[in-house]
Amino acid sequence: MDDTGETRSAGVSPAPFSDGISSSEPRVMVCTDEEVVARAAAELFVQLSGRYIADEGAFRVALSGGNTPRPLYRLLGSDEFRSQVDWRAVQLFWGDERGVPPDHPESNYGVVHRELLPRVSIPRENIHRMEAERPDVEQAAREYEQVLRRELPLNALGVPQFDLVLLGLGADGHTASLLPTSKDWRDARDLVAAPHEQISGVRRMTLALPVLNAARHVIFLVTGEAKADILRRVVKERDPSLPARQVRPTQGELLFIVDRAAAARLEGSAG
Ligand code: 6PG
Repeated sequence: MDDTGETRSAGVSPAPFSDGISSSEPRVMVCTDEEVVARAAAELFVQLSGRYIADEGAFRVALSGGNTPRPLYRLLGSDEFRSQVDWRAVQLFWGDERGVPPDHPESNYGVVHRELLPRVSIPRENIHRMEAERPDVEQAAREYEQVLRRELPLNALGVPQFDLVLLGLGADGHTASLLPTSKDWRDARDLVAAPHEQISGVRRMTLALPVLNAARHVIFLVTGEAKADILRRVVKERDPSLPARQVRPTQGELLFIVDRAAAARLEGSAG
């Protein structure tokens, strides 16, 4: 991968995504810092969008919340990158959302609305916000599931299949809003869930494991030394109690793009 600054790939081929479908064991791309992480992710976003738009006329992606992907969203909206994506053919979804209005500082949609949407021409009907602030958030989750079924191809098991799902990693091993403090993510029947956040009690909405694991490509973005321990538990120790470890696409590709600080504890044997 060129001009992304120095990247030291640990167990990943020069082209992090092969053309075929590979095993769902994680590949890890270690980048110098968070800006290089964002650049590597932007380049893969361009690569994958070009492939799926050429092959199928659309690129269906679920965006991550949290702070880590902000540099990526800014980069995708920059003069350097935005012209490399045919945004008219992009279908935008979210991996999860907090139970707050879209203009709230905590809204995952709000981050993308500020950092990316004003700079790219995605048709309004292609932007599928999770309405997690609705009092009837369970009904909102059912309706979001219908949107997934309408807009996405279904895999052999009838599960809506994203081309790309971007995820973050919480220091407690959560991803999207699959929280280790609750157990309902384990045997999810629904494709979209509405968990309570155990601490604040705030409702959330989240894609459930069956949808995440049906995706063709899943990319975790993980940066900062605060994530070094949990990243080791997920990638090296493969701790099954962690929701992030349970994201293992059944046929898709799984890639962790991390900076050196987050990768600090990946060397050495597991355990
Ligand atoms: C959310 C996110 C969540 C996030 C992780 C990492 O709504 O909070 O979806 O899963 O990706 O908590 O967050 P940071 O990137 O801010 O560390």
